[in-house]
Amino acid sequence: MATAITPRKILVTSALPYANGSIHLGHLVEYIQTDIWVRFQKMQGNTVHYVCADDTHGTPIMLRAEKEGITPEALIEAVHKEHFADFNEFLVEFDNYYSTNAPENKVLSQGIYKKLKANGKIATKTIEQFYDPVKNMFLPDRFIKGECPKCHAKDQYGDSCEVCGATYNPTELINAYSAVSGAAPVRKETEHYFFKLSECEQFLKDWTRSGTLQGEAANKMGEWFENGLNDWDISRDAPYFGFEIPDAPGKYFYVWLDAPIGYMASFKKLCQDQGLDFDEYWGQDSKTELYHFIGKDILYFHALFWPATLEFSGYRKPTQIFAHGFLTVNGEKMSKSRGTFITARSYLDHIKNPEYLRYYYAAKLNSTMEDIDLNLEDFIARVNSDLVGKYINIASRTAGFISKKFGGKLSDRSISVNSYLTLRLPLDSPVLVKYPDMGKKQPIEFIERIQNSASRISELYESREFNKAVRLIMELVDVVNDYVDDVKPWETAKYQQLDTITHWNCSVILNAFRLISIYLKPILPRIAYQVEGMLNIQPLKWSDSENLLSVRHEVFAYKHLISRIEAKQIEAMTEANKENLTATPQPHSEQRHAAHQQNEAKAETAEAEYISIDDFTKVDLRIAKIVNAEHVEGAEKLLKLTLDIGEEEPRQVFAGIKSAYDPETLKGRLTVMVANLAPRKMKFGMSEGMVLAASDENGGPFILSPDAGAQLGMRVK
Ligand code: MSP
Ligand code: ZN
Repeated sequence: MATAITPRKILVTSALPYANGSIHLGHLVEYIQTDIWVRFQKMQGNTVHYVCADDTHGTPIMLRAEKEGITPEALIEAVHKEHFADFNEFLVEFDNYYSTNAPENKVLSQGIYKKLKANGKIATKTIEQFYDPVKNMFLPDRFIKGECPKCHAKDQYGDSCEVCGATYNPTELINAYSAVSGAAPVRKETEHYFFKLSECEQFLKDWTRSGTLQGEAANKMGEWFENGLNDWDISRDAPYFGFEIPDAPGKYFYVWLDAPIGYMASFKKLCQDQGLDFDEYWGQDSKTELYHFIGKDILYFHALFWPATLEFSGYRKPTQIFAHGFLTVNGEKMSKSRGTFITARSYLDHIKNPEYLRYYYAAKLNSTMEDIDLNLEDFIARVNSDLVGKYINIASRTAGFISKKFGGKLSDRSISVNSYLTLRLPLDSPVLVKYPDMGKKQPIEFIERIQNSASRISELYESREFNKAVRLIMELVDVVNDYVDDVKPWETAKYQQLDTITHWNCSVILNAFRLISIYLKPILPRIAYQVEGMLNIQPLKWSDSENLLSVRHEVFAYKHLISRIEAKQIEAMTEANKENLTATPQPHSEQRHAAHQQNEAKAETAEAEYISIDDFTKVDLRIAKIVNAEHVEGAEKLLKLTLDIGEEEPRQVFAGIKSAYDPETLKGRLTVMVANLAPRKMKFGMSEGMVLAASDENGGPFILSPDAGAQLGMRVK
């Protein structure tokens, strides 16, 4: 028996995903990592609460709701359902999955703000910001676009150029325009609220030295200290979807102020539901443990702003922050054009089994901030060989005999032996079977080895060295399979006079399978559940590795547990995730930008510099005849074109060429159009394609025309 120690009380969080997008395989690195750790801690008998929530506030969510013609509340509710279902199906088991737009969060956020203010940590300052005069709102940098000051690429975001990689201030953009209304932004003064982070340096330095951070993260902190800490702008002006700042009408908390407080709010709700003591976990001298799992891109928020916020509002600080690296797919950033920007849902649609991914991530994850790669070929190979070929194979090769030959009962002999004899089966065959000398009473060697590995494996789980844990478990699986190959139950089963041996061997092997299932349970909870059913046992705990199934224990018939992945499932998945090149890109989120400034890591993908021929052939270019062209009432730049490309119905396209063409001169001429651009609803009607035209600062637009002889409807290749 392990020495009885008081169970630990642990509160665990994963970062709160933004409510303006779907969960993808990158996010899942974090939620799966956390879930494995939490399940492991629960199996240890510790009291663990795992909470999370959707991060719902901010400009992008407000604007997206507006675009969809719904309220932000309706949008975040729909996304909450979607996120929750995704996590559930990936077996990520939160004790509470909440929302930052909850009453508990409002109360906590405003309370914390008031305490910070009372502690002299809040200042106001008048700043100048870009303002959209049409939309009447201040614009986050990410919502200002324009021409890159370095390479002159058009339509770049306010903070960095996706073409040449330059970073700059939005003020440096050439011909800046608002991504919301298209209007030229003006500069406007406004009063903002700041958290005086600059005054928290000594506290943060001490806190960093207390061992709360991984080595790399502590180094990063060192760099930040060297650069000096700036006060943190925590307010945004209306219109903004968020919580209003007390005594500051029209001013709202910046989303990153109330987001981490969402950890507390989610737990607060859990306390109400389960009668837990909130202060025991969040009070200044809490004895409980608090861990935040996050990605390296949001370290700045969690290692600087968050502990400082907690310190100066009278709460406890995190015990540790566990930052992980970013996911790459096939060695590159996730990419929409390559189909490797894979959503959780499309994985479930195509691959179905979430435990494959859980296993693969576990096999790759360690305790550092290194990126991890999902190599799709390796994924297939690894899952098929380790899970199907090795682990499940232990049971599938032996369990059937127990039910078919021995009435579902294990052998009545205990698992003790210390030598083996060999037997040739049949007598003149080359098949050698090793069988145990059951007269001796020693615990069987490889079973003991498996049992003795429990503490090492648990150390590896505890320290988040999941890849090492998996490697060790798989070594044990190999040992079991070697044994199965030695004793060959399918050979001995042919001889009735060897029944005792067959029965005993199958019982030993099933015991080994049970032990391995304990070790894999944090990673493969569903398989473990099925194994518990088949073995007719209570839910497995970590300490169950100390004992074995009793003699004559009754089990149920073996049922198929898992199938191989087929390469074609992966192909179908990446195919389905390849995004139509013509889709309009979404503005990056404001929040991401803030993190991006502090850190090179980026969640969104930068597309490759080249496109493949496949990408190109997706664009359906056709010779079109302009059968009609006319002015559009109220439109400054647009002409309405009617284009014939040989289809039954002509296409209607709005083209921004009014400045250069008299509609009459266009009628009857041929041009080139993108025929498979997703139809777009514009202010003046549907636009069902796009006409190609050239322009730059020297002039234009110039509509393209084919050479003489081209016919309408021809494809451009
Ligand atoms: N809303 C903030 C977190 C607020 S926490 C108080 C946020 N949301 S997010 O949706 O962008 O990311 C959620 C988590 O997923 C973050 O920890 C982030 O690092 C992680 N990941 C997002 N994309 C990822 C990869 N491609 N790879 C690994 N983790 C990634 O940030
Ligand atoms: Zn550029």
